[in-house]
Amino acid sequence: MKQNREHWSSRLGIILAVAGSAVGLGNFLRFPAKAALYGGGAFMIPYFIALFLLGIPLMWVEWTLGRMGGVAGHGTAPAIFQSIAPKNKWIKYIGVIGVMGPLVIFIYYTFIESWTLAYSFFALTKKYGRDIDYAGMKHFLSGFQGLETNQYFDGFGWAYLFFLITFAINIWVIYHGIKGGIEKLCNWAMPILFICAAALVLRVLTMPPLNPDNPDWNAVNGLGYLWNPDFSALKSARVWLEAAGQIFFTLSVGIGCILTYASYLTKKDDVALSGLTAAGTNEFAEVILGGSIIIPAAFMLFGPIQMQEIAGSGVFNLGFVTMPLVLNQVPMSDILSFIWFFLLFLAGVTSSVSLAQPAVAFLEDEFDMKREKAVMVFAFVTFFLCQPAIFFLKNGVVDELDFWGGSFFLVLFAAVEIIIFGWVLGIDKGWDELHQGAALKVPKFYKFIIKYVTPLFLLTILSVWVWQEWLPTILMKNVPPENFGYVLGTRLGLVAMFVLLCAAVNIAWKRKKR
Ligand code: ALA
Repeated sequence: MKQNREHWSSRLGIILAVAGSAVGLGNFLRFPAKAALYGGGAFMIPYFIALFLLGIPLMWVEWTLGRMGGVAGHGTAPAIFQSIAPKNKWIKYIGVIGVMGPLVIFIYYTFIESWTLAYSFFALTKKYGRDIDYAGMKHFLSGFQGLETNQYFDGFGWAYLFFLITFAINIWVIYHGIKGGIEKLCNWAMPILFICAAALVLRVLTMPPLNPDNPDWNAVNGLGYLWNPDFSALKSARVWLEAAGQIFFTLSVGIGCILTYASYLTKKDDVALSGLTAAGTNEFAEVILGGSIIIPAAFMLFGPIQMQEIAGSGVFNLGFVTMPLVLNQVPMSDILSFIWFFLLFLAGVTSSVSLAQPAVAFLEDEFDMKREKAVMVFAFVTFFLCQPAIFFLKNGVVDELDFWGGSFFLVLFAAVEIIIFGWVLGIDKGWDELHQGAALKVPKFYKFIIKYVTPLFLLTILSVWVWQEWLPTILMKNVPPENFGYVLGTRLGLVAMFVLLCAAVNIAWKRKKR
């Protein structure tokens, strides 16, 4: 067992780090796009149900399992699961999903994060003009992404340059470790992020109507779009799936990173209140701040119907196309756009470092590598893994990685975790562990929820998914023929990654004669 594992320096430090992991592009881009697409108020009911029945219980489970693992010298799922079921030969391989999932997300997330840094720069240097229209802004984005050559971009150089900078920043932070890198970053980035978000909320909500022909398209009605409930939508399975998926993605649960972050706690540290505080901070950032920027802004400029169409045309269109257009309508638009994209960048980087940490912790804990070496191995491998996501964006590689890494593995891994906690470890033992050093007594009914409701909810989601989408997904029914080879290549790559990680687990276990 590794004796000198790092620890967080303070309770605020870990809460800010977990909140930093959770508050990300999901809060400010994915949430408003999904909420706008699924009818605002229609989305919020399943969203809150999923928060209370899936998100919060899983947050507690991950914090508790992670702290248990860390006390025994392990920060990733293969060894944590194994320590709970020592006689089970296969459980460590199931745990591989908790190292692979974040790795897969990291591969494309860092690339998207780099767009936000690039756009911060473009906003300040006025690379897109104030008089640019919707079509122009779409071409700007496509040109930047290398999907077309146009008057704005004649190559992929800017995108690649900003990817290199973003990748280097991520590696630099994790190289400096838990306390010296991640905790320090989150300590200053999170307050700045909240200030930027609050400034934008204030600006958007105090804007006069932008469309003189439609005075009803105002900020108050934009908020009403999100907050007026619509009970009829509860009949749609799709809305439930999307709402649950958003809860996982936004809270970073079911991925494996919170497990690793919590492994740097000590045995006596509280997890009950800290976990809830981190989840609460994320939800504040998502529904209050994230929900009060893009949605009212897009509503004011485009109205409800076109806003829904834009959200449906791609998660990023609202953030990268609509927001700069809205901000172009008011004074100091360059500064406001910079604040918007820099806010996204801070949210992104505090999340991507958490996606990197499980793989680094795996190398440190299971192969006894020094942190510096583990980070270098991680950087070398992931740099190559990022390349297909960058160069084959238009061929559906990022969407494919997002489906497996950002959706499927999350739900699968969350189901595994909750079953291990409630049934293998046992809910009574798990409950005691959760309450060790706790600064909050979790209401007793959560015992019932964790043991029965959350697993049943997750298994239902998985079954509906398999039933409705499995066959067409496996047979690549929705993949355009020209992308067939790329999508197949991505899937084979993911299988190879899983096999290699299982082999790594096997070697690590043999080396230590476990
Ligand atoms: N939780 C992170 C986000 O919302 C991954 O972007």
